[in-house]
Amino acid sequence: MRDPRATEGYVDPMAGSSVRTRAASAFEALLPSLTPGATERLGRSEALAFLARLATSLLDIYEPLEVVYGKVELNDLVEVLLEAAGDRPVALRDLDRRREIDPRWYQRARQVGYVCYADRFAGSLRAVADNLDYLDELGVTYLHLMPLLEPRPGENDGGYAVRDYRAVDPRLGTMDDLSELAGRLRERSMSLCVDLVLNHTAKEHPWAESWRAGDPAYADFYMSFPDREMPDAYERTIVPVFPDRAPGSFTEFDGKWVWTTFWSYQWDLNWASPNVFRAMLETILWLANRGVDVFRLDAVPFLWKRLGTTCLNEPEVHRIVQALHALVRVAAPGVIFKAEAIVAPDDLVPYLGGHDRYRPECELAYHNQLMVMLWSSLATRDARLMAQSLARMKPIPAEASWVSYVRGHDDIGWAVSAEDAAAVGWDWWNHRNFLNAFFSGRFDGSYAQGALFQQNPVTGDARISGSAASLCGITADPASWPDGVRRLLLLHAVAFAYGGIPLIYMGDELAMRNDLSYRDDPALAGDNRWMHRPHMDWTAAGRRHDPATLEGQVFAGLRELVAARKDLLALRGGGETAVVGVDNGHVFAWRRRHPRSGTFIGLANFSEQEQTVEAAAIGHYGWLETALSSDGPLVVREGRAHLPGLGFVWLIER
Ligand code: GLC
Ligand code: GLC
Repeated sequence: MRDPRATEGYVDPMAGSSVRTRAASAFEALLPSLTPGATERLGRSEALAFLARLATSLLDIYEPLEVVYGKVELNDLVEVLLEAAGDRPVALRDLDRRREIDPRWYQRARQVGYVCYADRFAGSLRAVADNLDYLDELGVTYLHLMPLLEPRPGENDGGYAVRDYRAVDPRLGTMDDLSELAGRLRERSMSLCVDLVLNHTAKEHPWAESWRAGDPAYADFYMSFPDREMPDAYERTIVPVFPDRAPGSFTEFDGKWVWTTFWSYQWDLNWASPNVFRAMLETILWLANRGVDVFRLDAVPFLWKRLGTTCLNEPEVHRIVQALHALVRVAAPGVIFKAEAIVAPDDLVPYLGGHDRYRPECELAYHNQLMVMLWSSLATRDARLMAQSLARMKPIPAEASWVSYVRGHDDIGWAVSAEDAAAVGWDWWNHRNFLNAFFSGRFDGSYAQGALFQQNPVTGDARISGSAASLCGITADPASWPDGVRRLLLLHAVAFAYGGIPLIYMGDELAMRNDLSYRDDPALAGDNRWMHRPHMDWTAAGRRHDPATLEGQVFAGLRELVAARKDLLALRGGGETAVVGVDNGHVFAWRRRHPRSGTFIGLANFSEQEQTVEAAAIGHYGWLETALSSDGPLVVREGRAHLPGLGFVWLIER
């Protein structure tokens, strides 16, 4: 086991032939007993498939584990996999088989996600199952239910402080309800995404309690220090996540300083321990067998700590995820991973396996940069920074996809690099300050109704809370609706056509505004992210078919995006997204190509006034047809394409 406090840098041993040889001989040593054992537990044909998967992913398992932990207990791990494969219900094995035949299922253009809290959406898991028609109507194929495992009582960071990974939050139902819901989703070809909080547990988790009690089996599960010397040393380079209400990354318990990156009741797991790795592997497989299709790897960049760094995105993080991924897919090949890595663009692509050499890691990752740039462009009416920063991003591996979104349950942190800002003549710090002022409504003339989140008392930096509709300026006053709705749909029109799985965040389909009721609940009052985690307003939803209402307009607009997307092969995951240079800074233009389809071009005008771009820049527009737009077919006059204020167009080569 490696000492997590090790200060030496990371040395990639380069997967030489020696690793290959060690992996192969470990596997061969196992085979004589493995083959009959697997056949007995899985039946002949499943056993063959299991062994074939193990053999083909052997190096993806072996190499990263050897790098991180020094040695690989293959025997042990295979036992865990075999056990999970044996327990895998038949319905899930059938799904595995389909997905092995259609391995890029998650890249299909029909994929559209919906994100909600089970209780705030419907009350309970059973009630969610009873409301699937609503999701069907929207065209949803992928449901991300916010944290639903049993959390600690009281404050629990919206469920991100888990006390029991094998139980459902009793307020929401039971594990059987979850499996039942997963089954109902499968009947409709919808997949289920659930959070896997792997950086930390609640301090009340039995692992943490055993660790505190001195149980040797858990002695290396968490990290603590006897005094402030090491915490101070680490904190010199760590950027605090919650500087306002939970400053620092350590908390004192029983006279020791425990590593707590987030809230004081969330204790970071020590991933330098192979026991933690194994425990989490078992957890994932167990949940996969309950019907979870997609694991959202919560706060994954934080897993590995190294003195003198920000303790984010360390190379070991990637190795750990690669090994978990390879192992999980031996026993549950239908399961995929989604990275929640809210980090700079250069640090993000590696979570999708984009390294010097491709290594399977997560199939999906949130496109945080796109999300941040959508809001930045809206505030400035200027898309140049967006074009600049997105154009600079490295391409992602063909197997991977973005998950694109406009809004989620977290705050918006202004990931603007100094380099990108300078390229368009701006100062990054001023720009961040401007965005905070604009979206918190402090900037003169701003329409936005958000609030500052976690203002850092030292640096003055902050992030933004607020629902998408409120940030778009939609208020109770109908006069705010025409522009507000155009803004909201404009942002979604880009997110829905950037390639990958677009997510609809519950309530945004109805333009739901900030919900300030959280202030009355002491367990929530200290965290204003709750203002954009509303309770579903089913009365408002009842107006969704009436085009004269706010809800009707937004709901219909999103449904159009979904419907148009399904037929556009170019919008599948995989393929390439490129920024197209245009001669008008208010307009963002992008192109999608897929090997099996024609070119797609999207245009989005972030200003309230009509704008034009040179038509030649968007290609042979004579071949391009309007597939969808905010205002009818694209008008081209005298060589210039005309875009109404806050308008968008999706063009396709026919
Ligand atoms: C993730 C969640 C966030 C939570 C944090 C700690 O980033 O999205 O809501 O506070 O992890 O678990
Ligand atoms: C930061 C972290 C992210 C976390 C969020 C909580 O953005 O990078 O992981 O969820 O803060 O608000």
